[in-house]
Amino acid sequence: MRRKLRVGVVGTGRISLDRHIPNYLKSHDVELVAIADPLVSSLNLAGNRFGIGARYYSYKKMIDTEKLDIISICTPNVFHKDMVIYALEHGINVLCEKPLGLNESEILEMREASINNNKLLSVGHHYRYMPEVWAAKKIIDSGEIGKPYIVRVQALRNRGIPTWGVFHKKKYQGGGALIDYGIHLLDVALWLTGNRKLIKVNAFSSSHIAKRDDVNPWGQWNKEEFDVEDHITAQLVFEDNLIMNLEVAWAVNIPETRNTLSISGIEGGVEVFPFELFKPKHGMLFNCGASYIPGDRVDPGEALISDFINAVKEGRQTRVRLEEVLHLAKVIDSIYENADSK
Ligand SMILES: NC(=O)c1ccc[n+]([C@@H]2O[C@H](COP(=O)([O-])OP(=O)(O)OC[C@H]3O[C@@H](n4cnc5c(N)ncnc54)[C@H](O)[C@@H]3O)[C@@H](O)[C@H]2O)c1
Repeated sequence: MRRKLRVGVVGTGRISLDRHIPNYLKSHDVELVAIADPLVSSLNLAGNRFGIGARYYSYKKMIDTEKLDIISICTPNVFHKDMVIYALEHGINVLCEKPLGLNESEILEMREASINNNKLLSVGHHYRYMPEVWAAKKIIDSGEIGKPYIVRVQALRNRGIPTWGVFHKKKYQGGGALIDYGIHLLDVALWLTGNRKLIKVNAFSSSHIAKRDDVNPWGQWNKEEFDVEDHITAQLVFEDNLIMNLEVAWAVNIPETRNTLSISGIEGGVEVFPFELFKPKHGMLFNCGASYIPGDRVDPGEALISDFINAVKEGRQTRVRLEEVLHLAKVIDSIYENADSK
């Protein structure tokens, strides 16, 4: 019988508790052997909740001691690069939370470490495992909607400023609403439209709401330290005249939170959430939903972890490729650079 792969998790905050630890524990192919976090309360909460005995304050100590096959990195963004590279250099396959790095140049370094050490590196873009996203990809790639030429991406929370961790500080996160929240839909939008080369950007960012006293159902955030955007909008022009209109907010004055990803082609269109296909046909306009999409009973977070484990076992890539992650980072860098220049 094949031995179980040994897994360690670095960072025992929200995403670790909600996604990584529980889904590793569900798998029959791995054994979650250790966790690491310098914050004793966080480390013990995770350890006690999931019955994990081996607990480390230092991720390096965990890596040096535990002979791991797989590691999940679930820490603030600024720590990802050094942790990922240290793990890869110690022969461990790495699943890192998004964003993989603060910018493209960090990700290039990580990719090099992955190649040089022949270990898998992938990222927690769980939206890629949503059935609606899979369905949209299938339809667009089939040519059903013709050539896509306009994409609408809206990741808009009426109010949802993160109040835990360090999401409000640029030096830890690299940015605000876009790199934290908009990144999911932007990643999917780029993937669905074939990761075309970015030609032009016009972007504007602001933090009107987060810099003052305001309402937030998630509680009080640190407005004095807040130095990232709570709202950003950009028009992106990609090669072959594909236009993407992007708007992302942690807080904006609209009636309710909405996630829109809508792609129009010359022959038809696709709305991803909820999934719908539009077609002009026989002199009529059709709107068509899907009553069954493969994978629609699997939680995308579980599918992500399971794909990573299987990819390690089978020596293949995951659904999320590093080339795509680099392209995404390049686009995000360009949006921030353009917005910051105003
Ligand atoms: N995929 C998603 O939908 C999703 C959702 C939330 C967060 N995330 C990502 O997950 C990461 C963590 O976010 P979170 O919400 O869990 O934050 P969090 O603040 O709840 O948890 C972060 C944890 O990392 C720990 N940490 C800090 N420095 C460390 C170090 N040197 N070594 C080990 N642990 C360290 C902190 O003590 C904390 O327990 C971020 O990169 C974030 O963007 C992804």
